[in-house]
Parts: sequence; structure tokens; C-alpha cells
Amino acid sequence: MIICKSADEIRLMQKAAEIVAEVLLQLEKNLKPGMQTSHLDNIAEEMIIKRGAIPAFKGYMGKLSKRPYPSTICISINEEVVHGIPGKRIIREGDLVSVDVGVKYKGFFGDSARSFKVGDVGKTKERLYNATLDALNISIDKCYIGNHLSDISNAIETRASRDNFSVVKDFVGHGIGKKMHEEPQILNYGPPGQGPVLKRGMVLAIEPMINAGLSDVRILDDGWTVVTADRKCSCHFEDTIAITEKGPLILTRI
Ligand code: MF3
Ligand code: CO
Repeated sequence: MIICKSADEIRLMQKAAEIVAEVLLQLEKNLKPGMQTSHLDNIAEEMIIKRGAIPAFKGYMGKLSKRPYPSTICISINEEVVHGIPGKRIIREGDLVSVDVGVKYKGFFGDSARSFKVGDVGKTKERLYNATLDALNISIDKCYIGNHLSDISNAIETRASRDNFSVVKDFVGHGIGKKMHEEPQILNYGPPGQGPVLKRGMVLAIEPMINAGLSDVRILDDGWTVVTADRKCSCHFEDTIAITEKGPLILTRI
């Protein structure tokens, strides 16, 4: 069942989402080559707690995961798709770095990811970055009452295909609210005009994950980090969006 939120609930979700957006902006400012990824995790955790919110990912137990997620944010570099665990890995010039942040605030979740280019990343990563951000924006533009859920999915795949990139099929976007992962699952591919009709009050976390090479992914021995099977680069963006009478309201942009 897809849980629709009231206007009041959406206002509360906006607060959670705002904290997520603030953290991502701050991390972008702090991100420098030579830095360990754990440094960004520390900054994020401190900011979230200071604002009276709770890191949503820390301790999260996925359906398939062998152990709870150990950190506040996910940092996924180059061939890492999503769920990269912050640690000793050093960010280098030329890296494409995806940072995913989720918080719980007053009972509601906010979830967003941004990819950052570290210095000159070269042509392929540049194109991949543009395609993924574009895919997110184009798919958000499908978030009108009366459209079908798979219009979002189709928009993402169509944009990726234009550059001969592939979408990740093993991970999906999701509904979000009092739980981080609610129904529906939002595939990053498929034909348009299928699935549930979008209604006022639905809140969706749309997250295109696009690979420069093939779709296939693997999970590393740490139990979390998702990498491309061909070890080519991947890119990820995510926003939390509310469906309103006036159209899509992007909660995680400030
Ligand atoms: N944005 C991701 C998601 O919605 C981040 C989850 S990390 C996890 O699935 F550790 F919490 F799983
Ligand atoms: Co998400």
C-alpha cells in the first residue's frame, strides 16, 4: 500500500529533507582531494545530531544484508555504485564521488544523494554525471497527479540510453515517510504508463543509478558496497519529492 501524506505531514517531511540538503551542501564544500572518506562521515553525523535529527542509515538492516549499515552516510567513488562505507579510502583528483544522506526528524525520513566531480574527471565521467543529473530532473518532471509510476522509470532509462549508458536494475528508488523505505519501488527502467497512478500526497525518493558500462553489479565482501561488475564508473543522484496539486515539490533542494 502506498501511504499518502497530509499537507501537515509534508511540511514535517520538508524539515527532515532540509537537514539532508544542508548536510549535502556542507559536504560538497568540505570535499577535497587527499581526504579520507570517513572525514565527511564525521562532519555529516555531527551536523545531523546538532539539528536534533537521527542518521537514518546507521544501524539499518537491509532485507538482504548480513550486518547493519555501520555509518551515517554512504560514499561511493567511481566504480562503486551505492552504499560505499566511509573509511580510509582517499578521495583523489579525477574521482566521481556519490554521497548519500538520510535522516529521521520528528518521525519522518528525508533521503538524498549528490555526485561530486573532483577536479577534472575526463569526458566519460563528465557525460555520465550530466546524464544522471538530467535523468533525475527529467523523471521529477513526470511527478504530476494522474501520471503513472513507470513514467518516472521510463524517463530515467530513456535519458541513460541516449548516451549509451545502462541503468542499475538491482537497486531501486522508493516511497518514503515514517519509514525510509515504503512502497512503491521505483525501477530505473521500464515502459511508460504502467503501475500505480500518482496521487496527491505521495512522497517518493527517486534515485537514478547509471553505469558507464553494463548494468550488472556485485556486492563486496564488506556486505554493503555495490560496485559495477565491469568496474567501470557509475553515478547516482537522489531527491525526495512530494506529489502536490501544484506539481512536484522537491523537498531535498533548498
Ligand atoms: N538512499 C539509499 C536507499 O534509499 C541509502 C540506504 S543506505 C542504508 O536505499 F544503509 F541505509 F541501506
Ligand atoms: Co533512497
